Amino acid sequence: MAFTLVTLFYLLLSLLSLQVAAESVDIVDGLAARQAPGGGGGGAPAGGQAGSSVPTVVSCAEYSRIANLTIIGKNSTYRAAFLRSGPFGTDQMSGMVDQAATLLPPLTLDKTLNEQCGNSTAIALAGAETNFTQGIVADFTIAEAPGIGVDGFSTLIIVSVLTLFMGTIWMTME
Ligand SMILES: *[C@@H]1O[C@H](CO)[C@@H](O)[C@H](O)[C@H]1NC(C)=O
Ligand SMILES: *[C@@H]1O[C@H](CO)[C@@H](O)[C@H](O)[C@H]1NC(C)=O
Ligand SMILES: *[C@@H]1O[C@H](CO)[C@@H](O)[C@H](O)[C@H]1NC(C)=O
Ligand SMILES: *[C@@H]1O[C@H](CO)[C@@H](O)[C@H](O)[C@H]1NC(C)=O
Repeated sequence: MAFTLVTLFYLLLSLLSLQVAAESVDIVDGLAARQAPGGGGGGAPAGGQAGSSVPTVVSCAEYSRIANLTIIGKNSTYRAAFLRSGPFGTDQMSGMVDQAATLLPPLTLDKTLNEQCGNSTAIALAGAETNFTQGIVADFTIAEAPGIGVDGFSTLIIVSVLTLFMGTIWMTME
């Protein structure tokens, strides 16, 4: 009977740690959001024209690209999808959207540019949402989130094996 109690205890403990692991996925998402441009974090923009914003001339395509990346970078859902779906590592991927975010604000307000190109910021907002509903972020098909959707059956097997293995060691120690 003592055996069953110990086993049960381990089973509960294992389930608890799995639960904690599952929840940490959300915590990572939240962190990404806080580390986004608004959060005032990290890397200095590479271009380095500090202070006064002398608006460099950008093409409509460039404005559009910057707007698209910024919108993705600012929404934590899009951002997470973008980081895991692109061909590069997450550092490089977040570097792309963060750099774009530092460039966009003056462009959004530039009247001439918005008249010439259409308001790419507004277009990007709508476009990102449409794309997301179709499983697309930027130019990428959204990849499955790793660690989510472990099916219950394999979890049960793994936990049982671990419980038996660890439990046996403890029981034979008594
Ligand atoms: C991000 O986009 C999704 C889908 O369009 C939307 O539901 C959500 O409110 C957005 N989040 C933020 C922080 O804007
Ligand atoms: C372009 O659209 C954005 C978002 O809708 C808005 O904040 C901005 O004021 C617009 N820019 C111009 C010049 O109309
Ligand atoms: C930005 O997104 C819009 C809307 O999805 C799209 O029409 C446009 O081609 C994109 N711009 C670039 C440079 O990819
Ligand atoms: C929407 O998807 C198209 C096609 O994949 C892409 O070219 C465009 O940049 C995307 N728009 C945004 C705002 O991400």
